[in-house]
Amino acid sequence: MPEPFKRAAVPATSVFKPDLFKDKVVFVTGGGSGICYSVTETLMRFGAKATILGRKADRLQAAAVQLSKDTGSEAFAAPADVRDIDSLHAAVKATLEKFGKIDFVICGAAGNFMAPIEGLSSRAFRTIVEIDLLGTFNTVRATLDEIKKQRGTYIHISATLHYSGLPWQAAASAAKAGVDTLSNALAVELGPFGVRSNCIAPGLIAGTEGADRLVPQGGEDIVESFIPLQRPGSKHDIANATVFLFSEAANWITGQIMVVDGGHVHFRAPWLPYPDSVLDPKSFGELFKGSKL
Ligand code: COA
Repeated sequence: MPEPFKRAAVPATSVFKPDLFKDKVVFVTGGGSGICYSVTETLMRFGAKATILGRKADRLQAAAVQLSKDTGSEAFAAPADVRDIDSLHAAVKATLEKFGKIDFVICGAAGNFMAPIEGLSSRAFRTIVEIDLLGTFNTVRATLDEIKKQRGTYIHISATLHYSGLPWQAAASAAKAGVDTLSNALAVELGPFGVRSNCIAPGLIAGTEGADRLVPQGGEDIVESFIPLQRPGSKHDIANATVFLFSEAANWITGQIMVVDGGHVHFRAPWLPYPDSVLDPKSFGELFKGSKL
């Protein structure tokens, strides 16, 4: 039987032109760590200047120093909690004083934990909805005047959790479904001003808190086999999608949810031996001999 082929993740800098985002300013909630740190780093390698936002001022400042050092561009740390719109207005003001404008916004700040419904208090549910959904709205509200002025672009980091039921993820699933529809509403309402709004929905991305939380130890191989492209995502995969959606190449794309998951959402038959059943189709008929269902 042939071995499953694994397409390697490549950095966006090997595909797109080097000065793609020269003179652009990006405002990234959650940019101090995780996926949004890597996305920010990539945008800066293309020349963008970045304001990164997060709750922990020390960690954020260290991240800004590292990003500037690694990319040769400029990152600015603006401590803020997306649940507090005043802190976002202050971060926008500071960004305008520092960089003079905002062209792109990434709504990436998110909170999550695994908990069964019975383990979720009303406050716990509200906490996740407030960070993920209200936080996205607050970020849009605080940046809107500037984004309209620049005819800029929003990207919201959503998820694929809510396309089907996932145990212990009720709050985040509900919140991300809201983020998707909020983005669509923005696309319709802001399109006539030249503003675009899209979501990126990452699948399982290796080396993230989300993957650590959702995949139990030893489960990595099983998960990988269910992903049609046969590997978990890398942060590069999400960064590449972000570069495309912010670029002029995506000029007529708004109100879309770009699922970046190696095809995972389309695989729905975990009882089949996958990928063996497609790599060795001859054995396929044998599987169903005597099937009763
Ligand atoms: N299971 C059930 N309830 C939980 C919980 C868990 N694992 N963790 C927190 N809660 C509840 C708390 O008990 C509290 O509710 P209560 O007052 O009724 O007891 C409520 O959620 C708020 O918790 P608190 O810790 O005060 O909120 P916070 O604003 O300080 O932090 C998070 C919220 C989501 C940021 C925090 O839980 C966290 O750091 N999570 C991991 C990091 C993360 O989510 N990263 C994003 C990756 S996608």
